[in-house]
Amino acid sequence: MLNWDDPIAKFQAPEKLDYAKAMLASEMLEALDLAEHARAPESALMTLETPGITGLEQVQFGARRLVVDDKRMLNCRADLNQLVPFKYKWAWQKYLNACANHWMPQEINMTADIALWKSRDGLSEDERQIIKRNLGFFSTADSLVANNLVLAVYRHITNPECRQYLLRQAFEEALHTHAYQYCVESLGLDEAEIFNMYREIPAVHDKASWAMRFTESLGDPLFHTGTPEADQRLLRDLIAFYVVFEGIFFYVGFVQVLSMGRRNKMTGVAEQFQYILRDESMHMNFGIDVINQIKVENSQLWTDEFQQEIADLIRNAIALEIRYAQDTMPRGILGLNANMFEEYLHYIANRRCAQIGIAEQYPGATNPFPWMSEVIDLKKEKNFFETRVTEYQTGGALSWD
Ligand SMILES: [Fe+2]
Ligand SMILES: [Fe+2]
Repeated sequence: MLNWDDPIAKFQAPEKLDYAKAMLASEMLEALDLAEHARAPESALMTLETPGITGLEQVQFGARRLVVDDKRMLNCRADLNQLVPFKYKWAWQKYLNACANHWMPQEINMTADIALWKSRDGLSEDERQIIKRNLGFFSTADSLVANNLVLAVYRHITNPECRQYLLRQAFEEALHTHAYQYCVESLGLDEAEIFNMYREIPAVHDKASWAMRFTESLGDPLFHTGTPEADQRLLRDLIAFYVVFEGIFFYVGFVQVLSMGRRNKMTGVAEQFQYILRDESMHMNFGIDVINQIKVENSQLWTDEFQQEIADLIRNAIALEIRYAQDTMPRGILGLNANMFEEYLHYIANRRCAQIGIAEQYPGATNPFPWMSEVIDLKKEKNFFETRVTEYQTGGALSWD
């Protein structure tokens, strides 16, 4: 089972086809007599009449069979409808692991949460605020991520095994939104209040709004990869969503809700978050592998200037997340306080930077919540919050108390 301490995939050797050669190949293909090409198709590569290959192009009858070396993460000119032969085996393995971790929100017992929420003195106002704010942030955040995947990212990742994982991830994002809705419904919360927080609460709004500009550009139907500027834009946007949004902006909420679970409060909500955290940890690891593979195949994109831009972007995001921590937890409770979150976010930022090859931004930061890595791995601490499902693998292998 993957958790955030698992090593990220080994980078694959750069392809022989570098950027300059790809452009040269493009010009050569354009120079071909297309009528002649159509009579005697000898290549599995698609023609370059239209920018970007999507998988929706006309099937070329009699074209040569696809080989692994035809595959590329971006700007691939090979048929995208053939899953095999695999080039990025890590992407397929993550797809298999994600399927093995399947779970459904309604399988988690919410009875104790409902009783506690309705009891007059079961929870303090600060504890209620933590639950409501985090349901408010996450309920729309997971929809933003899903929309970004389906409407923006998917089109530009030109590799079938990665797309297979993206399809699974998209379903998991739907499950996460489902889980928040299920919590809101179970507790009888005001759904309009929760689902409108990203319009009405500044600390929630600012994180969502920070992310929007990184999905707008990719979602633009006129946007195509294939130039250094466009490819850098895609890389930046992937970092914004996978490393920052899913890898930083979720973590204050995870710590807060899971801390309540560790104190035997709102254990059903906490278990929902625990399963979501496990999924998110894999999403982020997948995104980091994709980012690093793009870097290897397109090293010209990773300039000093671009790295500085990414470092600034991460520092800016950390400031927003610290503000979110202060807003959701204005006073120290549950053994947590704003200073601990600041230290934790610096520690997380350093990890994220190291994972994508950016210099650490907060040297010496330490982890004040070492228990978080154990929570991610459900196998290490079974029955963590003493709800019913103790270990979820596939539907046929459920283990119940
Ligand atoms: Fe999610
Ligand atoms: Fe996610």
